[in-house]
Amino acid sequence: MNQQHVLGIDIGGSGIKGAIVDLQSGEFVGERFRIPTPEESTPVNVAGVVAQIVEHFAAELGDGPIGVTFPAIVQHGVTLSAANVDKSWINAPAQQILTEHVGRPVALVNDADAAGLAEVKYGAAKDVDGLVIITTLGTGIGTALVHNGVLIPNSELGHIEIDGHDAESQAAASAKTRDGLSLSEYIPRLQRYYETLEALLVPDLIVVGGGISKKADKFLPKLTLRTPIVAAELRNQAGIVGAAWIAANS
Ligand code: BGC
Repeated sequence: MNQQHVLGIDIGGSGIKGAIVDLQSGEFVGERFRIPTPEESTPVNVAGVVAQIVEHFAAELGDGPIGVTFPAIVQHGVTLSAANVDKSWINAPAQQILTEHVGRPVALVNDADAAGLAEVKYGAAKDVDGLVIITTLGTGIGTALVHNGVLIPNSELGHIEIDGHDAESQAAASAKTRDGLSLSEYIPRLQRYYETLEALLVPDLIVVGGGISKKADKFLPKLTLRTPIVAAELRNQAGIVGAAWIAANS
């Protein structure tokens, strides 16, 4: 295997996606491969699907680690939370389960941490000094804190309490859909969320990812913040790219 080429896998609520990433450019080498997330998405069932994805790319892989993202707190390979996923992940030795199923080393990382690092290494926050907060607006709100290129993992700032609510329950993209909001009705919730992050952490740059960031030009200019706020650049590739980068660099 070319050591520049590493497999990244993104475990999401509806699909598990993998691709080989060229770490020089941060781009995919060949096609992405996706399998739907099993209905009963326990660690063992998901690990079985991850193994199928690894098998799909086996001919292109060496012995090095692969990177895998998961949408929960991941500390030293153990998943500690399960905000929008099967509760059986809480306290599961997930990295070990995955390693056993795929038969090679796995670096397991929070999904937003992976996406955030990808934006810092290859995307919207490339070469930005100081504190960058990368947020993903989706089913939940994922966040990554990166200071001078170094990730501070598991920031979980989607769950800060704002006006008596878990922030993601109001400001995630899923809350917009759930409450039937137009973009202009949703913008005040984003304003409230990002002004709170800004007041708490005084970042140098905020990056906004997740599917809704495709429409970033329609809502980012309407936010009133001191901090520059920009759309993510790697779109739905960020998790896979960041996972591969972390596998090669941890
Ligand atoms: C979880 C985070 C995750 C985010 C995005 C939140 O509900 O707590 O761990 O990064 O959703 O998937």
